[in-house]
Amino acid sequence: MYIEYPRIFWYTCHMKKVLLSGIKPTGDMHIGNYFGAIKQFVEMQNEDYESYVFVADLHALTTVTDRDELKRNIFNITAVYMACGLDPQKTVLFQQSAIGGELCEMTWIFNCLTTVPYLERAHAYKDAKAKGNEINVGLFDYPILMASDILMQDADIVPVGADQKQHVEFARDTVGKFNFTWGETFKMPEPLILENVATIPGIDGRKMSKSYGNTIPLFASDEEITKAVMSIVTDSSGERPENVYAMHKLFRTEAELEKIYEENKGKYKILKDMLADDIKTFVAPMRDRYQMLQANPQIVEAVLREGGEKVKARAVKKMLEVKKTVGLI
Ligand code: ADP
Ligand code: TRP
Repeated sequence: MYIEYPRIFWYTCHMKKVLLSGIKPTGDMHIGNYFGAIKQFVEMQNEDYESYVFVADLHALTTVTDRDELKRNIFNITAVYMACGLDPQKTVLFQQSAIGGELCEMTWIFNCLTTVPYLERAHAYKDAKAKGNEINVGLFDYPILMASDILMQDADIVPVGADQKQHVEFARDTVGKFNFTWGETFKMPEPLILENVATIPGIDGRKMSKSYGNTIPLFASDEEITKAVMSIVTDSSGERPENVYAMHKLFRTEAELEKIYEENKGKYKILKDMLADDIKTFVAPMRDRYQMLQANPQIVEAVLREGGEKVKARAVKKMLEVKKTVGLI
């Protein structure tokens, strides 16, 4: 017997969830970026998601003022994405500025629904203010441009490190404000934060971050990896060197580590050598792919071009809907 399901039912069953995330091209990718973000993007492209991963170059402009550096970093992050296993056949890889205009228009419309005290609650803004930094309007408005990135693609899931959670909440609030003011237009996105890798510590025990200069670069040479691992700050007060252990957990199971750390109690040099070897073994195949892409920039450029065309088309469509909704057309 032939059953005719309502069209809406068919769509609901066959539509994949949209996954979207991005990273700013503001420096060399490190182990924290890999485990906190990129690894999840790679794993999820094989599940039931329509994946979009981008290079947040417009966001980078809130801090970067060197053209060569920006261009180099845009290329490098894309090469890192691909080297780590993001497959352009499964994930649309793109540069944020390839959408450009529509994102800025959407951000403006959202800005008009956003109050200044609300944005003053942002952690990144508060930190910059506490440090007495000069704050540009772009930095202040950073969360709203990020809301536009997410809502432009109708994202369902946004995998990010714990430090980005508040930004996704801002995007969710923006959905609420827009839909309440203008009518149902945007889907509610969910952040995806993996708790066991939520914050990868750096060599000084604080969150690994390029702004703290405490990173282990993802595609450093073997010598650089050894040097970085040897400089991990060890605290001899406890049972084991916690900072070394915390990083080691990324590469081995806790059961394996319990044994190794028990057998080598107090022998920090041996434990660090072992960690350095584990990191090198882990990154070597990805680093080879990265070097291949560096030698063949046209491969990376073609991927960005194709991805850009796809998201631009989606953005034009979404922006048309939004403009109609608010009465601009
Ligand atoms: P950084 O702090 O080095 O400037 P970004 O803010 O550019 O890093 O982060 C890019 C992505 O990597 C984000 O999704 C962020 O949450 C994730 N990430 C960065 N550092 C870490 C870390 N130490 N642990 C876990 N995830 C991280
Ligand atoms: N703010 C993110 C970071 O610093 C980058 C980013 C911009 C992003 N727009 C986004 C992440 C949208 C996820 C979704 O890493």
